[in-house]
Amino acid sequence: MTPGVECAGLHALIDRLNRFAESRFPVREVHAFLQTARIPLSELQPYIFIAPDHYTRNLIYKCPEFELLLVVWPPGQGSPVHGHEGEKCWARVEQGRLRFTNFREIPEGDGFRLQKTSEKIGDAGHLDGPADIHGVDNLFDTLALSLHVYSHPYDACDIYDVEANIKTRKRMHYDSRFGIPE
Ligand code: SIN
Repeated sequence: MTPGVECAGLHALIDRLNRFAESRFPVREVHAFLQTARIPLSELQPYIFIAPDHYTRNLIYKCPEFELLLVVWPPGQGSPVHGHEGEKCWARVEQGRLRFTNFREIPEGDGFRLQKTSEKIGDAGHLDGPADIHGVDNLFDTLALSLHVYSHPYDACDIYDVEANIKTRKRMHYDSRFGIPE
């Protein structure tokens, strides 16, 4: 292991995340750990599945407490604004650049309106989270990769129409699992 680096490689990362699961992913510690963990791009290679017209969600590891995904963002592709609804979600840029836009719901009448709270562009190494309501997009002309830790894993989430201030429930899917396309 490189001196001063908490862990190097996917196996060590998953090992450490399993230990964090025992203490329910304490936010400060997990955040500090994810800032220092080093994952060689060669280890992510088996999970890179590219679809030109959407971002892909590629499952690396899953247990009841958390899942680890590699998300692959072609130029110009992004996620809809969506909620994490109590889940702790961290995303770290591994390659390229991504924009992370955060929102919050402001109660209004019988419904709500969405208020943008922050926007950040992150290069490789940038760590975002834990996120609540956000959208992620690749505004740039190179492929971007991000590693996502979700605790707990969810299989459906709220998707927001930012203009109309409405949300709908959507089931999540994977584009590949453990290196095998769906
Ligand atoms: C996703 O998981 O589908 C989008 C990425 C994210 O939530 O950060």
